[in-house]
Amino acid sequence: MLGSELPYPIDLTEIDGADDLHDPEEGGIIGSLCEKYASLYKARSAHPLVNGSTCGILAGIRTLTRPGDSVIVARNCHKSVWHAIELCRLDPICILPPIIEEHGICGAITPDAVEEAFERSGGAVCVILTSPTYEGVISDVGAIAEICRKHNAALFVDAAHGAHLGFSEHFPEFPRGADIAVTSLHKTLPALTGTALGLVFNEKYSARFARNLGVFETSSPSYILMNSIAKCADILSDRSDLFNTYRAILDDFYASTQPKKLKLIKTDDVGKISISTRNTTFTGSSLAKALRERFGIEPEMVHSDYLLCMTSICDTAENLAALSRAIITLDSEAEYLDGKSYPSFITELPPAEIPLAEAVWSNIPDGGEISNAYVWVYPPGVPLLLPGERITDEIKKHLEMLKNSGISPKIIKTS
Ligand SMILES: Cc1ncc(COP(=O)(O)O)c(C=O)c1O
Repeated sequence: MLGSELPYPIDLTEIDGADDLHDPEEGGIIGSLCEKYASLYKARSAHPLVNGSTCGILAGIRTLTRPGDSVIVARNCHKSVWHAIELCRLDPICILPPIIEEHGICGAITPDAVEEAFERSGGAVCVILTSPTYEGVISDVGAIAEICRKHNAALFVDAAHGAHLGFSEHFPEFPRGADIAVTSLHKTLPALTGTALGLVFNEKYSARFARNLGVFETSSPSYILMNSIAKCADILSDRSDLFNTYRAILDDFYASTQPKKLKLIKTDDVGKISISTRNTTFTGSSLAKALRERFGIEPEMVHSDYLLCMTSICDTAENLAALSRAIITLDSEAEYLDGKSYPSFITELPPAEIPLAEAVWSNIPDGGEISNAYVWVYPPGVPLLLPGERITDEIKKHLEMLKNSGISPKIIKTS
């Protein structure tokens, strides 16, 4: 039969006994799943999501703010955060993350930087940051939460890349201290694409977050995806041994992979294997091409001067040994190119001449000095330039440098 390979038998809808994602019943199949996840992530309530972390980010930020509020936001947040700021008509006070000099990737957001942003903000109601980042950089969320409490502000953490954290002593803790966090099960755990969790740690936001999910998440949730979320919960509950094996495989990988010219970028999360091409004849793109075409290895994300290979508890020792051999071979072909460096992110904030929420409706002309577009490299989908910001010389140089490294930033026009 046409399409018989598709999983029609489990593609249910909200029939009797199948519960309701937007109004889960205590003891119902979805209600029980919510409770299980709340206990796994030590949250007050957990919401399985079938539209990715994206819908949780939109709902979470709307929950913690009112139109016109000031929010402190790490400038390296994903586009979904900026879309939330745009939709909720918020005034962003940006924190530019430091660049880790050695590799050119973004470092952690420090508590001092958050404190300084509060001084600049004059009454921000919420802090928004990403931890861990795509590359596995973790900020001190606990200390930042203390600062937020002192200023009567809420804390929203995009932990899209950290769903696997906190299930073994061999990996860092899942971020603690946020009022609301989201995490993508589909990114780092065995769960189908599109699956994620909204996690509410401060009970007072539970009902409002649930209502806002109703605004941003489909009213026809896929039971195929929800089934996958349920299977993932079983793995997290019953198979902590998988994390021990995973860590042991990673330790073997790092011990046996010591390239001389390429560099392995070690962040807080050793499961994110980033390879730096700085000071070599490779760029992120040319290294990715070689891995793909000659070794059948597909990197998760490719940037100007590095690439990221994503691993998970599903990887085997053989997978990582193959990656190790490929890196050692390509390292032997790389040559030193001293001083070659393509930083992945801006080092100066472009001035916001028109507030973001206004800029997207402002019909800013093409070819002027003010941006009428979001500009990002995708992935990671972190804006280098926002609508309404001045297109400074530093931005122009940065975009030119990215092109020279073989990366084409995407320009998403808003007017
Ligand atoms: C930091 C970050 N946050 C949020 C998202 C959105 O997650 P999802 O694809 O699950 O909607 C992404 C996607 O890549 C991301 O990198």
